[in-house]
Amino acid sequence: MIGKANGAISITGIGAYAPEHVITNDELSQMMDTSDEWIVERTGIRERRVAADDQALSDLALPAARDALEQAGLDAGTVDLVIVATVTPDMAFPSAGAIIADELGAPDAAAYDLSAGCTGFMYAVAQGYGMVAAGLSRHALVVGGDVLSRILDWSDRGTAVLFGDGAGAVVLERVSEGGFLGFELGADGSGGPQLYLPAGGSRTPASAESVAERKHYVQMNGREVFKFATRVLVTSAEKVLAECGKSIDDVDVYIPHQANVRIIDHAAEKLGIPKEKIVVNVERYGNTSSGSIPLALADAQVEGRLQEGSLVLMTGMGAGLTWGSGLIEWTTNGRK
Ligand code: COA
Repeated sequence: MIGKANGAISITGIGAYAPEHVITNDELSQMMDTSDEWIVERTGIRERRVAADDQALSDLALPAARDALEQAGLDAGTVDLVIVATVTPDMAFPSAGAIIADELGAPDAAAYDLSAGCTGFMYAVAQGYGMVAAGLSRHALVVGGDVLSRILDWSDRGTAVLFGDGAGAVVLERVSEGGFLGFELGADGSGGPQLYLPAGGSRTPASAESVAERKHYVQMNGREVFKFATRVLVTSAEKVLAECGKSIDDVDVYIPHQANVRIIDHAAEKLGIPKEKIVVNVERYGNTSSGSIPLALADAQVEGRLQEGSLVLMTGMGAGLTWGSGLIEWTTNGRK
């Protein structure tokens, strides 16, 4: 799916939250056969955050959502749409969206979850955009977050070292001009088995057997996912830029999904975008799945990189296999 935006809609508030507990590479190397040197060289990751035992996804999302609303200057009661991109909701149902809308105090909001792996946030932003553009929503809250620590096999060094927990949220509203220029989203289900959670759904419900066979943990073919990720980060970005009549040189801030520094470097080189325009925080958080792009957006904002008129390119990719880009001319002017 690709399209140019047909209404001025922008991000008017950003919030992010990562749990306090830090696990360093050295700590991981005491739990499994790995080393700080290997992890840093292959991924760029130095540490990740892990949720406390009593924290579920909604507990990570709520502080992020409250901060985003505060920054937008909105009362939670005016939120009419809550979309939560996650593959680790508190439970299969009710949705994390419904739980979060209730906790926030948004009784008039439509609220639900969206599953698109690490691309979830980009899908959810595009969907929120569409709802606001169509006039169905005035104040949309889009959350991206995951508690992947709960679905990692902590004895599998091929996956456990890569991921972390975290969440972010943005508010979408109409503005006078600028805002989102376009989106490009896609999915290739034939690549699904490269990154998946085998059990716990209707195909293989939880059983003593499925637990014993460790089928409730993330399974990944790292090399195949690496090839896919480096390819789509480039193609998706190029497609959305072309659709919007922009070139890579026009981009001021590039926010790729924070999976691995090597993947980001690869894509940056192919795209021809200089390092100083790229937001990278994977060394502190690991891959937080749907939390990654909003956490990076929040960091970019704190660093003063999101200026009025800045052209910001965001691209995610992940399980599905899925990918998605959004291009936004940063503005909060003339909110309606
Ligand atoms: N510590 C130490 N050694 C490890 C290790 C770890 N955590 N994980 C794997 N290894 C070993 C392998 O067993 C292998 O050993 P061998 O040569 O004796 O068989 C060796 O390191 C090389 O493994 P390989 O899988 O070829 O490494 P790689 O360079 O492809 O890096 C990933 C592995 C997972 C870091 C890389 O493939 C990757 O980043 N893939 C994308 C994953 C991703 O981002 N997924 C989410 C997308 S949203």
